[in-house]
Order: sequence, then structure tokens, then C-alpha cells
Amino acid sequence: MKHEGFSSRIGFVLAAAGSAVGLGNIWRFPYLAAQYGGGIFLLTYLVLMLTFGYALLLSENCIGRMTGCSPIGAFRQLCQNKGIAGKLIVPGGWINSIVPMIILPYYCVIGGWVSKYVFTMLSTPVKEFTSPEYAAGHFTGFITSPHWSLIFFTFFVIITALVVCCGVEKGIERFSKILMPVLILLIIAICIYCAFLPNAKAGFTYYLKPEWSKFSYKTVVEAMGQLFFSLSIAMGIMITYGSYMRKGDDLVSSVNHVELFDTVVSFLAGLMIIPAVVAFGGEEAAANAGPGLIFVIMPQVFAGFAGGQLVGLLFFVLVLFAAATSAVSLLETNVHTLMQEMHLARKKAIALCLVEVMLIGMVTVLGYNLLSHVHPLAFIDALKGKDILDTLDYISNSILMPIGAIFTTLLVIAIVGLKTICSEIRNPEKPWYREYVYRFCMLVIVIPCLLIVLLNATGLLK
Ligand code: TRP
Repeated sequence: MKHEGFSSRIGFVLAAAGSAVGLGNIWRFPYLAAQYGGGIFLLTYLVLMLTFGYALLLSENCIGRMTGCSPIGAFRQLCQNKGIAGKLIVPGGWINSIVPMIILPYYCVIGGWVSKYVFTMLSTPVKEFTSPEYAAGHFTGFITSPHWSLIFFTFFVIITALVVCCGVEKGIERFSKILMPVLILLIIAICIYCAFLPNAKAGFTYYLKPEWSKFSYKTVVEAMGQLFFSLSIAMGIMITYGSYMRKGDDLVSSVNHVELFDTVVSFLAGLMIIPAVVAFGGEEAAANAGPGLIFVIMPQVFAGFAGGQLVGLLFFVLVLFAAATSAVSLLETNVHTLMQEMHLARKKAIALCLVEVMLIGMVTVLGYNLLSHVHPLAFIDALKGKDILDTLDYISNSILMPIGAIFTTLLVIAIVGLKTICSEIRNPEKPWYREYVYRFCMLVIVIPCLLIVLLNATGLLK
């Protein structure tokens, strides 16, 4: 298939960073960091980012650039005529393509929550959120109300679908080049404000100082799941982006930029939220945090200063925008897979994807109210008592993504060969400082670690 390429390297970096930065950084990272011990989670995350994340991000982009294909095609092309090993590895392309189909429905559910808070900032005086009970009650009241949560979920799906149907992603991307930096500046400003909350110091210590006693295999499983989610790796997206790159583009520095940018945004989001949680409710509140964290805490922050209403509105509008751009790119990926593999026309593929998103998304929404007694896969220890959203999130990030990543690594070391990959990645005019990190990770670290993570995640190894 012929792709239109990126016109410049900066185009690639912006597109890949645009897909990487989203709810993963602003909604998911802070609640996981709060829940899994603050500093120790941050440290684990950073170490994994510099080793694993780096190796996989680079590999995927390189595979994409070598083949010019999306994941299923790339796996198929590289595994052709490679005998039995090739046949065993080909399904990896499928696993990579199924993950975004699981993520998109619940991504839209969270997108619905963000939309609801935009609406809240317009309709409810932010002063009411001064009371933590009110803030928590407002959120719980919303997710346990079937019709309101379905309405906002549907609203978010419709926005996403409209953008993809009208084919206006390019126009949207132009906006996101302006709005994303504004969001980041706003986050920095809020961080500075939060630093002056009474008791914020305890929060900074909680977030920045690793506490070894809180380390467990769960920290690693969750940090790794977050890494995959946040960098959009192990789901074929980066293979697709790599396929848009031109041969001569410098892969190494592009990947460095994406990695740095994504991590900085996550770090800042944590710095904005975690000191505030600890300031309002102590470490206990942080450790009990869940997916509702930003929705409960941020309105309380906005309630604390004059003009909070407007700042709150701006904040949720910008987050909604970041979520919508990511959802659009997820939907686009799924549509592309269906068009190529099932030979569907674009309209039909979009319709099929939307039916899937609506069905799974609705079940997810109802998981907080009408279906709240349903706990799928409760035989896995980590999922006991978890609702549907957490279950989908766990299946995609902690189980399927490690499997996808194992396949990608096998593809690199067993089929393509590290030598070929490295010479493809290396830019002859520039030194590649982390080449040894890359080789070492791919050969020694990635597969054993992924296997351990996977066995732990499924409860097979304790
Ligand atoms: N990385 C995105 C985030 O942090 C989420 C995401 C996962 C994504 N997979 C994606 C975005 C595919 C776009 C395309 O929110």
C-alpha cells in the first residue's frame, strides 16, 4: 500500500507525540502513581521507560519504516519464507491490532467523563466542590446514574465518529499543535499553585521519594502496562507511524523526542494532582485512588481560588481535546485494520467499529450502575471485585500488550536479526549513544521480563 509520508521529521515527532499524549498521561498515570506508592512507582516507570520503552518504541518504528506497512502486513511481510518460526510469529500482528479495539470503547467512556466535567464547570458553581464529600459524591452520583453516563459516553463517541467520517483529522491536528502546548502550560501553572497548598510538602515527598517497602511485582506490572498504554506501543500504532517515515529520517532522535515529551507530560500531571490529593486527604486518600482521581481532585483544586470556575472549564476543555485526538487516532487505526484485512469499504468499516465501540462501551458504562454486580474474570486475583472498565484496561494493558511486545521482540531478534535492525536504525552521520542499551534490552531483558510480568499478571506465578 502506498502511504503519504510525513513532510518533515518534526511532522513525525508531532504526530507520534500527539498520539502518545492523551488521557494516558493526564488521567491514567496520576491515579496509578498515587495508588502504587508514589515515588516508587515513578522510579519504576522511569527505569522501564529508559530501557523497555525505548527498545520497543525504536523497534516498532523501525519495523514500520522498513516495511511501509501497518502491523498485520508488516508481520506478514517480514515472516514470509521464514519457515516454521515465521509461521509462529505472524499472529503477533493480530494481537497488536486487537489491542486498540479493546482500548477504544473504554477510552470513550473516560472521554464521556471528561465531557461531563466540561458541562459541570458550566453548570455547577465550583465553590461547592470545596467540600471533599461533595466532590466525591458528585462523581459517584454521575457514574452510578445510567442515563447520564450513557448520554455523555454517546456524545464523545459521536464527536470522534464525526471527525473520522468527515476526514477532518488533518484540520484537527493543526489545532492540537496550538492547544496541546496550552494544556501543558496550564498544567505547569496549576502545579505551581498546588505547590502552595497547605500540606503540599507531604505530597511532594510521597510523589518524589521512593519508598522501597511499597515495591512489589504489582508495581512493575502496572508501571509496564502504563508504559505500553502511554507510548501507544505494542498495539501497532507506532509501526503505522514508522511506515509514514522517509528512509533518510533520523529514527533515533525522533524516538528520543517522543519518549521525552510523553514522560514529561505524565510527570507534570502527577506533580499537579498527587500533592493536591495528599494535601486534601493524606496518603491514605492517595493509596485509595482509582480511575476517578482527577475528576474528584481537580474541581477541589479549582474551588480554592478566584477564577477557578474559568480555569476549571479551560482545563477540562483542553483535556477533552487531548482525549478526542487520541480517540480519533485509535478509531482510525481500527478502521484501517478492518479495511485492509476484511476488504471493507471505508464507510462500512467505520460503521462496524462504531457498533463495536457502542456495545462494549455501553456495557462498561453500565458496569458502574445496572451491572455493578458483574465482575468478569474474577478468577484472576488482580481482578477480584474489579468493575468492567478496570477489567478491560487490565486485559489490554497488562496481558495482551506484554504478549504483543513479546511477538515484536521475537520478530526483531529471530526473524529480522538485530544486526539488520541496528544498521537500519543507525544514522551514519550521528553517534547512537544508546545502541548498547538497545541491543542489551532486546536480547537479554525484554523477553524474560515480559514473561515474568505476564505470568504474574495472569496469576499463574505467585
Ligand atoms: N497513548 C495514548 C494516551 O496516553 C492512548 C493511546 C493508546 C492511543 N493507544 C493509542 C492514542 C493509539 C492514539 C492511538 O492517552
